[in-house]
Amino acid sequence: MSSKSAPIPAQADHEADALAREIAKLRAWACSGNEHLRTLCQDGLQRLRLLYSQAPEEQRARLFQADSIRELREISARLEAPPDETLRALLKQIFGYDQFRSGQEQVIRTVMAGLDCFAVMPTGAGKSLTFQIPARALGGTTLVISPLIALMKDQVDAVAARGIRATYLNSSIEESDRRQRLSAVCRGQFELVYAAPEGLELYLAAMLENVDLRLLAVDEAHCISEWGHDFRPAYRNLAGLKQRFGGIPLLALTATATARVQQDIVNQLGMESPVRFQGSFFRPNLRIAVVKKTGHPPVGRAMLQLLRARKGESGIIYCLRRQDADDLAATLRENGISAESYHAGLDNDTRHQRQENFQKGRTLVIVATVAFGMGIDKSNIRFVIHRDMPRSLESLAQEMGRAGRDGQPSDCILFYAWPDVLAHDFFANEQKDDRLGDQRREQARRMYRFAEAMCCRHQALAGYFGEHLAACGSSCDVCTDRDVLAEAAAPRRKKR
Ligand SMILES: Nc1ncnc2c1ncn2[C@@H]1O[C@H](COP(=O)(O)OP(=O)(O)OP(=O)(O)O)[C@@H](O)[C@H]1O
Ligand SMILES: [Mg+2]
Ligand SMILES: [Zn+2]
Repeated sequence: MSSKSAPIPAQADHEADALAREIAKLRAWACSGNEHLRTLCQDGLQRLRLLYSQAPEEQRARLFQADSIRELREISARLEAPPDETLRALLKQIFGYDQFRSGQEQVIRTVMAGLDCFAVMPTGAGKSLTFQIPARALGGTTLVISPLIALMKDQVDAVAARGIRATYLNSSIEESDRRQRLSAVCRGQFELVYAAPEGLELYLAAMLENVDLRLLAVDEAHCISEWGHDFRPAYRNLAGLKQRFGGIPLLALTATATARVQQDIVNQLGMESPVRFQGSFFRPNLRIAVVKKTGHPPVGRAMLQLLRARKGESGIIYCLRRQDADDLAATLRENGISAESYHAGLDNDTRHQRQENFQKGRTLVIVATVAFGMGIDKSNIRFVIHRDMPRSLESLAQEMGRAGRDGQPSDCILFYAWPDVLAHDFFANEQKDDRLGDQRREQARRMYRFAEAMCCRHQALAGYFGEHLAACGSSCDVCTDRDVLAEAAAPRRKKR
């Protein structure tokens, strides 16, 4: 009899694990902002209350330890709390917006409840706000890891202009300035700190010991995965960050991650059962069209045609090679179009100047390599043209995602040809790691198959990221039988 009732350690562990998992699930449901999940949470709490009241005393004491009871009380309080207007008030007060966009509030509530969160939301969805509002609401300091060094100053200036106490730490800052900033961070002067993953080790010790960190956000989180499209080796510095910072919630954000990349991110960052949010990839105001480069008309002439039909509009043209970007920008200028090139071969000052010219509307068209793009938030970009096929569908989604962030109709035009695939093969052959080389070759072929396929472009792109979408019916050349080159040539023909 006594041997029967004595807890077998393995079984006790098993029961405790099961309860911990149940509590984590209930907590996620309680913060989800989804009525159905909140009802399921109520039911779950009720079941546990019953178990508590009916279990023999010994089992109850073993199972429901003080921590678990406290957590269950918190969940229950969260469910019963009246709708939280504070966040909406902050949204209005800091940013002047009346409504949260889809998913934003749920992500904010999740991290504010102390849970890890993984949000995959499309380009332009407003991911930045999901750490900027908690930065104010949580108190202490929110640390944002971002690979976008060139944009950090502008991002910090933009939030500072809205009254958030923010700063950044990256390699562009002089040593003495860096020390001063770091000591100000340690004194708690900043709510929001952007840091590059490069050199993270330099700040980490001070942050771990002295900073009252409340939230850790990893922006462009796909950069940690070598299976993603923009792997940054420095992002490897983030592996195990969660463990180092202990109980602080971790928020991973990206617009482009396949299921495989998502899993890789969760593993690499050591996230604990993150609550996941996945927004729809479909942005109906982006009108996708694909053109095969056959030499008729030559690609340079096609670009001119397209741009003449878009006089006065702001846009980006992506080229694979730096030289092509320089040449095309020069041709456009010769034809009276305000254009500058942008690529990694230019020095920092020139790059910064040109980016700012574009951002402020002093230059209408930027002709760029992949060095330009991720994180650029200019609201009125009316077109993104790929003169050459990008390396992957992820890159396509990121780059065309710069267009139409104000919700207005915008064109995303992809030029492609088989030699583009061979050009990507050339880069693949340079890879030291065979697996990455193979992956790059495969990505280019997938990209080519996407361009060749005669099915809805939005449907195919969303499908690649695991979302089932009906054919768009109105926002791509396949669904509408649109010929962008003929359309661009038409007004000129009429004039003649
Ligand atoms: N609730 C809102 N109401 C109106 N505008 C918003 C709202 N939230 C964000 N925005 C605006 O949407 C734009 C895009 O936001 P943000 O740069 O955060 O996008 P993102 O999701 O990070 O995109 P990307 O993946 O391209 O980096 C910004 O100009 C931002 O001010
Ligand atoms: Mg962003
Ligand atoms: Zn379509």
